[in-house]
Amino acid sequence: MRAGPELVYDPYDAAIVHNPFPVYARLRDEAPVYRNEQLEFYALSRYADVVEAHLDYETFSSAKGVTIEGDEAATPLLIVKDPPEHTLHRRIVAPLFTPRRISALEPFIRQTAAELLDPLAGLDTFEFVDEFAIRLPMHVISELLDIPLELRDEIVHLAGLVASGLGRDASPEEAVAAKGLTVLLVELASQRRRQPGSDLVSLLMTTPVDDGAGGTRMPGDAELGTRFLELAFAGHETVAKLISNAIIALKWHPDERSRVVADPGLLPKAVEEALRWDPPSHYQGRTTTREVTLHGVTIPADHRVLLMTGAALHDAREFPDPERYDLDRPLERHVGFGLGRHMCLGSSLARMETRVALEEFLTRYADWELVEGGAVRALQGNLRGLKQLQVSVTPRAGRPQTLSR
Ligand code: HEM
Repeated sequence: MRAGPELVYDPYDAAIVHNPFPVYARLRDEAPVYRNEQLEFYALSRYADVVEAHLDYETFSSAKGVTIEGDEAATPLLIVKDPPEHTLHRRIVAPLFTPRRISALEPFIRQTAAELLDPLAGLDTFEFVDEFAIRLPMHVISELLDIPLELRDEIVHLAGLVASGLGRDASPEEAVAAKGLTVLLVELASQRRRQPGSDLVSLLMTTPVDDGAGGTRMPGDAELGTRFLELAFAGHETVAKLISNAIIALKWHPDERSRVVADPGLLPKAVEEALRWDPPSHYQGRTTTREVTLHGVTIPADHRVLLMTGAALHDAREFPDPERYDLDRPLERHVGFGLGRHMCLGSSLARMETRVALEEFLTRYADWELVEGGAVRALQGNLRGLKQLQVSVTPRAGRPQTLSR
């Protein structure tokens, strides 16, 4: 029997960024504990292993970073903390994402989506990411954080540069953007202390937090700046990518697209299955705190391990016929928002934003097409999505109808 080509998983390889799923299939089948010597990481790709490792935070620690390089480990972000510190910090932010608070945002999200799409009426083609997918989540997160209107474009610009520098040595322009974004958001946090409003950061200022010694304390300025940065960043590029990945999923599966257009009640399923079929976050990095042996391979202590949710979500052991985008698939066990202690705090918000974005777009343009060569993928660390998506549109006859009502 002839041996197949050598199995190499390099997440920065352009061909893999373009389509990682063939290499994911080989990882799951041939090397479920894969070792990349050059980039110095191990990768777990089978659903069951990824789930188990996510739940075992004592063995698979986040404290040394969640990317391959782990540069973000030096920041005070929630995502790079282990319990008990993580538990304390998460308790500060979690109350901001109650179902009541999130569902109260739906009218704002719908109105913003309409305000972004309506000026495009009459165009034959437009840039879906720049004009819509990237802007909607930034307005939503800006609303939550009460970021002044005049700063929103600058924040979109800086956050885009920071995101494009993720996962490799940032260019001088990207490094300056990262500093600029931090300064801008920390300054906003301290302004907010002087003039509190009804936004999330103002709420955080007045919410006592557990001091870890049985008492409570008030959060400091630097801590508030961090929460600002964390929410602005976590809630922006990820949602933008899910919106455009969902559009691509519907494009490649016209039968499912027709079903969604005919029955908007299927939109939540369309979002959920898009999150499985092409999730924005493809892996979460961890570092072993002890030696682990799995499938006959021993991972030594203090080594980087990628928990590859992108590969796990295409594991036929859990999701039969995984390459098919299928609105009837049971998805209770999917891991597109991670799992366990660090599971995404903004998942309800992200689901709602994506559902409303699809609904408002489909209401206006049920028959869009991709412009030839108009889809360009972004390489942004563990994030997968589009940086450009040129669509050609044929407006629906008559005035836009809201799909669901
Ligand atoms: C489709 C959109 C989104 C996706 C795919 C996504 C995905 C994820 C994933 C996979 C994690 C776990 C990371 C890990 O285990 O290392 C995570 C954590 C997190 N997400 Fe999201 N996210 C999305 C949207 C949002 C939004 C809208 C917000 C807030 C406004 C948000 C806030 C957070 C925060 C604060 C964490 C850290 C939680 C912790 O460490 O305890 N995310 N997200």
